[in-house]
Amino acid sequence: MNVSVIGAGYVGLVQAAGLAALGHRVVIGEIDAERVHTLEGGDSPFREPGLAELLKSGTLAGTLQFTTDNVAAIKSARIVFLTLPTPEGADGAADLSIVEGVVDEIGGKLEPGTVLVLKSTVPVGTADRVQEHLDQVGTSGIVVVSNPEFLAEGSAVSDFMTPSRIVIGARVREAADVLADVYQGLDAPVVFTDPTSAEMIKYASNAYLATRVTFGNAIANVCEAIGADVMDVLRGMGHDERIGHHFMKPGPGFGGSCFPKDTKALVSIARAAGYRFSLLEGVIEVNEAQHHLVVDKVRAAAGGDLTGKTVGMLGLAYKAGTADLRGSPALELARLIHAAGAKVHAFDPAVQSELADIVMVGSTMEAARGADVLLIATEWPEFAEMDVEAVGELLAGDAVVDARNLLDPAVVRSAGLRYWGVGR
Ligand code: UGA
Repeated sequence: MNVSVIGAGYVGLVQAAGLAALGHRVVIGEIDAERVHTLEGGDSPFREPGLAELLKSGTLAGTLQFTTDNVAAIKSARIVFLTLPTPEGADGAADLSIVEGVVDEIGGKLEPGTVLVLKSTVPVGTADRVQEHLDQVGTSGIVVVSNPEFLAEGSAVSDFMTPSRIVIGARVREAADVLADVYQGLDAPVVFTDPTSAEMIKYASNAYLATRVTFGNAIANVCEAIGADVMDVLRGMGHDERIGHHFMKPGPGFGGSCFPKDTKALVSIARAAGYRFSLLEGVIEVNEAQHHLVVDKVRAAAGGDLTGKTVGMLGLAYKAGTADLRGSPALELARLIHAAGAKVHAFDPAVQSELADIVMVGSTMEAARGADVLLIATEWPEFAEMDVEAVGELLAGDAVVDARNLLDPAVVRSAGLRYWGVGR
């Protein structure tokens, strides 16, 4: 099938490369000429396992092409996917101006019968509104369909190839069938529904997962206060099939480019519809407080005052396996620690950027050297394997704050260091 993907961000590139691998001819429209140049040169602008290989093979085979001209990108496309940013607006609601701008740019140029797919996370009701807009300006025969993405960074390519489900929200059955056809070859349940429910599936899924993480963090905080070990508590809970062991790892709070934005957006969607989603408001509040709890531990570990102290920080990305700093709890921790008067020396195996308030160093050992407190903020496996004795010798102080529960407290203590985890 001839397919067009507008927006070469994370979602768009994985979608485009994945569809090319399924045998479709894909043209990507991307406004950033530099990014198009990178892609044409056979490189991936993101670090994402398997993506560079997939992009390269599509580009070499000619099934994947790039252009800065969106109108050229949609020419002869049977399906047009919009994979565009929907940043958080001033009131927590999603800002749709980029999506709307592109719809206005290409709407009148689409062939009758084209299926226009909203893949970005958009407020509930957007697909219907875009459909109404297109109908009003007289672009007849275009069907707007919601097809939310469920990719997680670090596993995006395998999430595309082996999806948990494909959700298709359409008001016209033929359009839904065309979209189901494009995914032929993927072994996944297909959920056919209306666009509003499809949009809600995405928000409800992310809100549930964010709530689950936050529940784990809240249980950890109670465990810590009463002297229980959250890791044993979660292990004991998880054997109940209804609960399970997954996605409840305690930490510094959830982050990234999706959960913080989508939870706020859902609160705002519900509020606009007359429902106060106080459960989710609580999740957002508990999550933000979780950052401060970690900083309180760092302060306690430094003897009650961070002024003039040095904190060696391990990890800056919002989770292991990515270089992405968007919404990273680690960056927020660094900001708060710096604001409390301490120097932050940080190492992340995937991040080299210059960052405000942070002195970047090149290794775990360099981060530890001369630090009063060592703080683990991202769960990179190499931090779990560090030589704790050797690290202890480089520290100026004797404290480790493990905000990801990565280390064995007994090992840290036997190296003569004091240990703070989350809920243990
Ligand atoms: C998330 C969802 O997992 C995807 O299904 C969804 O498609 C995506 O958002 C999106 O909406 O685009 P992602 O943000 O890449 O994916 O990362 P996750 O692995 O879900 O992690 C989110 C945050 O929760 C991270 O800060 C992570 O450290 C935290 N987390 C996750 C925990 O603190 N504990 C856990 O047990 C799991």
